[in-house]
Amino acid sequence: MRKWNFCAGPAVISEQVLSEVKDELLEWGDSGMSIMEMSHRSKIYDGVAVDAKQDFIDILNVPSSHEVLFLQGGATHQFSMVPLNFAHNNNADYVLSGSWSKKAIAEASKLTKVNTIASSENLGFSYAPTQEDWKHSKDSAYVHYCPNETIQGVAIHEAPDINNHLIADMSSVILSEPLDVSKFSLIYAGAQKNIGPAGLTMVIIKKDLMKLENENLPNILRYSKHSESDSMLNTPPTFAWYMAGKVFKWIKQSGGLEFFKEQNHLKASTLYDFIDNSDFYSNPVKIENRSIMNVPFILADNDLDSVFLKESEENGLLNLKGHRSVGGMRASIYNAMPLEGINELVDFMKVFEAKYG
Ligand SMILES: Cc1ncc(COP(=O)(O)O)c(C=O)c1O
Repeated sequence: MRKWNFCAGPAVISEQVLSEVKDELLEWGDSGMSIMEMSHRSKIYDGVAVDAKQDFIDILNVPSSHEVLFLQGGATHQFSMVPLNFAHNNNADYVLSGSWSKKAIAEASKLTKVNTIASSENLGFSYAPTQEDWKHSKDSAYVHYCPNETIQGVAIHEAPDINNHLIADMSSVILSEPLDVSKFSLIYAGAQKNIGPAGLTMVIIKKDLMKLENENLPNILRYSKHSESDSMLNTPPTFAWYMAGKVFKWIKQSGGLEFFKEQNHLKASTLYDFIDNSDFYSNPVKIENRSIMNVPFILADNDLDSVFLKESEENGLLNLKGHRSVGGMRASIYNAMPLEGINELVDFMKVFEAKYG
């Protein structure tokens, strides 16, 4: 029996998508084989791949100035691929607003001079530095930030307007609402939250930025080489790509990103409103920086954490444990988590508070 899965990633996937995959698992169409057994160079697979890319472009309204790539290596790989390509012999600006931007900075620092142009580490990443506080350097190759810090549940909701290449780690927020892609020179996102199974990394890159890449790198590290071969420089993660395509179709059929924006804001406000009106639960994040995808909360008495986790699990509410680095609880409420799941979580939290509060 399927339960409500609040995992930060790999995360819940729409049941409609999973059941279509189940139906097609043994044989895709009348191909005589599973999609997993098919050459990525075959005509049939090519159709699947091309369709998925087009659906992604349609959903996000990706302008023709940008290329969409289906890569491997996770968002972590982008932590080094970005500076390797664009900050060689140079320096780059980074905004530090949580654990993932901190990791991106640590990796980039091995490859280039990093200017941390704004940081919220002083207050334990309980807010994000506002754009006015970003102290841009004169000659940096690009500005990197993480609009949604998955661990702290801290978001920068407005994409900043800057006079430099803007690069964003959107792993836990991509496809949660419409986005003005034209503001960005590069967006990357691991698939395992709002897109599909792990193993796939989406990259949206401005074609003009690709012209600036480091030509001395091996092909596998060069965006242009992936682009020239339609993301098939080597064997791509074929199954994850196919499933991502199904998720994109499901998003389209559901009403696109406007629909998910409305749903996601409703889900998040349902949970935050309940937490804010309780003396037992609290969320440490500054209101304007609260994430709509990852909602951390703490109990008034952390001795009750293990009881909360045990009883929530018994009630069909899974993976509510906060990240090991911050503790407490966290509910990740990506696109595939319906409002019903949030309502059940809130009902459980009320009962738990009445019992132990
Ligand atoms: C914002 C963010 N960036 C990067 C990562 C790392 O992603 P991956 O494990 O795909 O390398 C994660 C994973 O949770 C994330 O949430």
